[in-house]
Amino acid sequence: MGMGHGAWGIGALGMGSNSYILPNLPQPPQSLPHLPPLLHLPHLSTMYLKSIHLRQFRNYTDQKVEFKAAKTILVGNNAQGKSNLLEAVELLATLRSHRLARDRDLVQDGEAIAQISASLERKTGISDLTLTLRRQARRTVALNGEAVRRQMDFLGVLNAVEFSSLDLDLVRGGPEGRRSWLDTLLIQLEPVYAHILQQYNQVLRQRNAFLKHTQDIAFTSQQSEQLAVWDAQLATTGTRVIRRRERALQRLAPIAINWHSSISGSTENLQIKYAPSVPLGENYPQQVQQAFLDKIQQRAVAELRQGTTLVGPHRDEIELIINQTPARQYGSQGQQRTLVLALKLAELQLIEEVVGEPPLLLLDDVLAELDPYRQNQLLDAIQDRFQTLITTTHLGSFDSQWLDSSQILHVKAGEISLTNAIY
Ligand SMILES: Nc1ncnc2c1ncn2[C@@H]1O[C@H](COP(=O)(O)OP(=O)(O)OP(=O)(O)O)[C@@H](O)[C@H]1O
Ligand SMILES: [Mg+2]
Repeated sequence: MGMGHGAWGIGALGMGSNSYILPNLPQPPQSLPHLPPLLHLPHLSTMYLKSIHLRQFRNYTDQKVEFKAAKTILVGNNAQGKSNLLEAVELLATLRSHRLARDRDLVQDGEAIAQISASLERKTGISDLTLTLRRQARRTVALNGEAVRRQMDFLGVLNAVEFSSLDLDLVRGGPEGRRSWLDTLLIQLEPVYAHILQQYNQVLRQRNAFLKHTQDIAFTSQQSEQLAVWDAQLATTGTRVIRRRERALQRLAPIAINWHSSISGSTENLQIKYAPSVPLGENYPQQVQQAFLDKIQQRAVAELRQGTTLVGPHRDEIELIINQTPARQYGSQGQQRTLVLALKLAELQLIEEVVGEPPLLLLDDVLAELDPYRQNQLLDAIQDRFQTLITTTHLGSFDSQWLDSSQILHVKAGEISLTNAIY
C-alpha cells in the first residue's frame, strides 16, 4: 500500500529557519579536580526542553527546573514527585496522561488551578507552552503567551515518548491499553488525529445514549430515521480513525520488528497485526465506510438488545504475536519487556522520521528493570540524540559514564534541588 510522506504532514511549526542557539551553560572551573566533566548537551538537531515551571501541579507548589544536559536523572525516594514531573512533560506533549488522571487529580489538593509552563527549543526557534488545568472547569492551552483555541494547534509543538513500568500492560493487558497507546502516538504524528478521535467519541457517546434509551422497545419510524443518522456519522468518523490507525501501524511495525530481532538476537519472530472491528479491504475510504455500515446491519439485533454500539474502532485490537503465539501468553516477563522496549524504540524512531526532530524520551523507573544487556541496547540507541529524563530511586544501577555526563536532580516532597552528592 502506498505510504506517501505527505500523509503525515510536518509538525505544527513547519521546518523553515535554522536558528538553533546554544544554551548558556556555566563552565566548570578547570582548575578544580573532582568536578564532573562538562555535561553533554543534546545533539544540535534535537528538540530541547530548556525549562519547566510547575505551579500547584500534583505535589509541586511552585517549582522551576532548568534542564542543562541531554540526560537528566531525577533521583528520590518513593512518592516524592519524580513521576509527577514526567507526567507534566507528557501532558504538554500529548495533552494526555498515561496514568489516565482527571484534571481534578492533577491540580494540587486544596487548590483550584494548576499550571505547567515550559520553554522549548526547536530548529524553528523557541516556543513557550502553557497548560492550565482547573478543578471545576475546562483546561486551556497557550503558545507564546497567546491562547490557542484548538488542541491540535498545541499538539505537535513538543513531542515525547514515555516509557514506564505501566507500559508492560501493552503486552499483558487488554486491547484498550493498546488502542490508547496507538492513539497517543498518532496524536503526535498527526495532531489533527486528536480532533478526528474526539469527533468519533462524541458520535459514539450519542449513539450509545440513543441505544440505551431505546433498548428493548419497538422503534417508531422517527427513531429508525434517527438511528440511521447516527449510523452514517459513526461510519464516517470511525472510518477516519481506522484508516489512520492502519497507516501508523504499517509504518511502526517494521521498525519495531527490527528492534525486536536485534534485542532478542533474532531468536524470536515478532508480528504486529491490526485487527480492526471493521474489515479494511484495500483501505479506501468509501470501501471501509460501506463495510462499516454492513457490519452495523449484521450486529443490529445484538446492539438493540445490549443497548450499546458493538461496531467501530472502540473495539479494535492490535495483536502482538511472538513465534505465532499471542505475546501475552508467550514467554517470560523479560521477553515481554523486550517487546515493550522494541515498541518504544520504534515510537522514538517513527516520530523522529515523521516530525523531523528527535522527540524527548521519558524513562520512568524502567532502567533498573532491564538487564544490563537491554539497558545497554537502550542507552546505545539514545546516546545524546534524544533529550532524556530518567527517574530512579537510586543511582547505583547507572553506568558511571552515564552519571558523569548527566545532570542529576534530587526530588524530595515536591521540591527539586541540584545535588553534588557523590554516589
Ligand atoms: N493532586 C495532588 N495534590 C497533592 N499531592 C499529590 C497530588 N497528586 C499526587 N500527589 C502526591 O504526589 C506523590 C506521588 O508522586 P510521584 O508519583 O511523582 O512519586 P514518585 O517520586 O514517582 O515515587 P515512586 O518512586 O514511588 O514512583 C504522592 O505523595 C501523592 O500524594
Ligand atoms: Mg514514580
